[in-house]
Amino acid sequence: MSLTSSKRDQAEEAMRRSWFPVARLVDLDKPVAATLLGVKLVVYRDGSGQVVVQSRRCPHRGGDLSIGEVHPASIACPYHGWEFASSDGACSRVPSLADQSRIPPKARIRTYPAVSRFGHVWTVLEEPVGPMYDPEEWQDADLVWLAADPIDSPVGVGVTIENFRDVAHFPFVHKVSMGPTPEVVEALDVKRDGVDVWMYRPLNAGTGEWANDGDCMMKYHCIAPGLASITYEYQKYGVRVVAGFPSPVSYEHVKIFWGVANAADYSGASLAENLRVEEMVYLEDVPIVENLDPREIPWDAEVEEFSVPADMFTLNYRRCFLELMRRTRESVDAG
Ligand code: FES
Ligand SMILES: [Fe+2]
Repeated sequence: MSLTSSKRDQAEEAMRRSWFPVARLVDLDKPVAATLLGVKLVVYRDGSGQVVVQSRRCPHRGGDLSIGEVHPASIACPYHGWEFASSDGACSRVPSLADQSRIPPKARIRTYPAVSRFGHVWTVLEEPVGPMYDPEEWQDADLVWLAADPIDSPVGVGVTIENFRDVAHFPFVHKVSMGPTPEVVEALDVKRDGVDVWMYRPLNAGTGEWANDGDCMMKYHCIAPGLASITYEYQKYGVRVVAGFPSPVSYEHVKIFWGVANAADYSGASLAENLRVEEMVYLEDVPIVENLDPREIPWDAEVEEFSVPADMFTLNYRRCFLELMRRTRESVDAG
């Protein structure tokens, strides 16, 4: 990619080389259709239980494999029954052929990496710039995940992550779920390293449902482009997590996969209860965020924006994303 390409194009290129969720693990009792940056995918479990991500279009006459049938080591197209191996996507059977050695040798669907983590299946469209997300603070917590119903939102990954971790909107957007919260934002304690940004902020029990589990430290952690999380460390109960993973259906339209997790020894509210409360918060954001203009971070300064110290965390997320774009260019240029 040339240095003269727009930042918007660089952002899209970076996302083609970044991991995103494309399905919830609980939905894989049958094939699931997904779209990532315009690429149509099918996600399924083959007969051996292996999770598979492949292109969804059958190369015979364009049948949709997500409404096909899963066989022990392949997926079959619903139209004329052609089968494609779950291991590498090669066409392994054409039912109309008397002689299977005459299968068109190049007939295959593309197979993408598939990683099962945080209750979801993750994939990446091109050679990834970095490893699959594995936040350090979760590695020893023995987390049990519950994946929420995904939320459709007609905006980009960047503004979705920024909303998830913005703090100045609480008293305006989350009056119901959080109760009254202070308008003035304290000097934020933000640290950034490469594509990671952290912020620690105490949660004081308020009158809303969201804060009803008592005092704790909230450890915010975003990783560019697509992971935003809070790890709640309650003195009384232990560790729980809420995390959002917006996945770009297109550059300006995300499917927000998200979930909650409790450490195995967490003694506060159940996963289902934590999910219910976090969902109240999420659904308050939707009508505001889906009307933002522009629909993605204006990387090329195409509109005017003013920032204040309360935006310190989201501004640092932008720096993470810019760093990701730089790394992407470097790896594309290297080859
Ligand atoms: S379109 Fe898929 S088998 Fe014919
Ligand atoms: Fe919010």
